[in-house]
Order: sequence, then structure tokens, then C-alpha cells
Amino acid sequence: MRSLIDPTDLSAAEVEEIVNLALDIIDNREKYADACRGKKLATLFYEPSTRTRLSFTAAMMELGGNVLGFSDAANSSVSKGETVADTTKVINCFADIIAMRHFEEGAPLVAALNSRTPVINAGDGSHAHPTQTLTDLLTIRREIGHFDNLTIGFCGDLKFGRTVHSLIKALSRYPGVKVILIAPEELRLPGYMKAEVCDRYGVPYEEVSSLEDVIDRLDVLYMTRVQKERFLDEEDYDRVKDCFVLTADKLKNARPEMRILHPLPRVNEIAVDVDADPRAAYFRQVENGKFVRMALILTLLKWAEEGREPHHPLVPTDAVAGTMTCSNHRCISNMENVESLFRPAEGDSWRCVYCESRPK
Ligand code: NCD
Repeated sequence: MRSLIDPTDLSAAEVEEIVNLALDIIDNREKYADACRGKKLATLFYEPSTRTRLSFTAAMMELGGNVLGFSDAANSSVSKGETVADTTKVINCFADIIAMRHFEEGAPLVAALNSRTPVINAGDGSHAHPTQTLTDLLTIRREIGHFDNLTIGFCGDLKFGRTVHSLIKALSRYPGVKVILIAPEELRLPGYMKAEVCDRYGVPYEEVSSLEDVIDRLDVLYMTRVQKERFLDEEDYDRVKDCFVLTADKLKNARPEMRILHPLPRVNEIAVDVDADPRAAYFRQVENGKFVRMALILTLLKWAEEGREPHHPLVPTDAVAGTMTCSNHRCISNMENVESLFRPAEGDSWRCVYCESRPK
């Protein structure tokens, strides 16, 4: 059974397969109108969403399939205390594939480990968001044409922004990619991303605090919203909420071929006067999200029928169970009764298999 929990659950060749299928769907919409006739997608959204949930829904509808689910955990049995594992087993009786968004980091992995159908992570806390990554990759392919040798500036909330973590992981596999991290001190990229992704895969990165200083070097500027919902203290949020605002004026030094991406929603990090610039690709990016999710649903259902083996196991074979406790209070291993799992990491350290934090 193949699920998509982390962007690296797909090999680079499989990403290529899905992006190419999305491009074919864009050119031949009619051909796919009945491709999922009789199939059902369950969207289990425990956290707010507009684009991701509706694009999954629109994707399945365009494939001729049906959609069921909930968009507010308060209306489901979760409010009665049902676990993610039990909810998954129940949904398996109703649907052929599941898309899950959850505020508990690692929840979609727990679902996948308990599921008879493919599970797609539609965003887990501040950890990962692999379908936004596929959306971003399709957008880069359509706007720029390739992934190699790109210099990408990530700007804003690199600490809590799950879309940033997943896109950096996916891009680390392409030669010549350089990453410029533009964030205030408080919102810098987590240590595990720098040590285990950038350093390990040899992706050069720079940490800077001024967008103006680097904008002329970028092929892609990936803007992000400061993730208000992840702050424990309102004052901490107020201090950084307006740290970067992209305006038409600041774009004067940017290359004409540069593209501006943003997973959306935006709050005020991109001024509305940027929208008319041909380099602003974020609304085109939204539509790419629907096409790439069509390609992903089709591919995972096909792989389930064929019994395609995972690219790597969901739980690494060298993981150890039940001996350590995760330091992240948002990790599902601290919120539900699931066995703790840690894998060996750089040096002599360990990382939680659910959320990649260190043990306590
Ligand atoms: C992002 C998310 O949910 O992580 N939105 C999305 O899925 N398009 C980004 C965000 O909420 O800021």
C-alpha cells in the first residue's frame, strides 16, 4: 500500500511521473473525466482549510469520483474522544482513499499505519505538507521549466511553515539547488531541516534577514504567512507578524524571469499591488494544486491496485519503539495512545518518526 505522508515517500522518478501526469491532465481534461468513476475520497480535516480541502474535492469531482468527509473535527466522533487509528479503520469501510489534515504532528502517519487504503497527508501541524510541495513543483515546472540549478529564497515563517519544510526536502534531490533563508531570528528554519536535509544532501544554504539584499539573485521567491495559530503567546506573534512585506517597489531589482510563489492564504506579506506583476504566480499555483491532486489520487489508486511496493518503509527499519518520549508537545505520540518511535539521526542523536523532533 502506498501513502504520501512525507514528500520523500515519493522517489524523484515518481514525482516526475505525477508531475507529467498532471501536465497531461491539463492538456486532455476530457480523457480523465471518468477515471475515478465509482471511487470515493474521504477528506478528514481536523484543522481549517480552504484551498487544500476544496482542491481535493474538485480534483476527485473532475475525475468522476465522489467525496465524503468532514471539515471540522467538532462535528465528528473525534469530539467524543475517538483516536486517529480508530477513525481511520472506520473510514476504510466507506472510502477508497483518505486525505487527512491534522493539528497533531504525525497523525497522518498513524492513519497510514492503520489503514487498508492509501492515506495522503494534507498538512500535519507545522511538520509537513507534501501535496503543497507537489503543487509547488508543478508550478515551478510550468513557470520555469526545470528544478535543477535553481536558487530559491524562502521568506517569512520558516520555523512553523510546513510547506517550506516539505519543499526544501523535495528540492534537496535536484542538482545545483541553492536555498536562501530569509527570516527573523525567531522564525528560522528548524535545526533538523538544516542538519538532516541541507547538510546531509549537500544543499548550500544562507540565512539572511533582508529580502532586498538577495532578491536580485533569486529564480523563485517563496513567500509565506506567519503561522499565527502555532504561537503559544500572542505578543510573540505581534512582534514578528509584519516582518516581511513584499511590495511592487521591492521587485524593481528582481530578475524578469523570477517567479513569486505563496501557498496562500496571504495576510499582508504580499501587497496587493504585486498581484498584477507577471512574476506573481500564486494564483496560477492554486489551480496547479487541483491538477496535481488529480494526478496523485489517480496514481495512488493505481498503485494500490497493482500492489506497488513503497519507495521506503513508512517506519524506518532501524527505528526503536517505546523507549523514549518525544519533546514536541504537538506530536501525536504525546496526545494519543500510540507507541513512541525514534530513528537514529546525525551524530548519536535520535529523531521522532512521527514529527522529527528530538527525544526529551
Ligand atoms: C498552507 C498550509 O496550510 O500550510 N496553506 C495551504 O495549504 N495552501 C499555508 C498556510 O496556511 O499559511
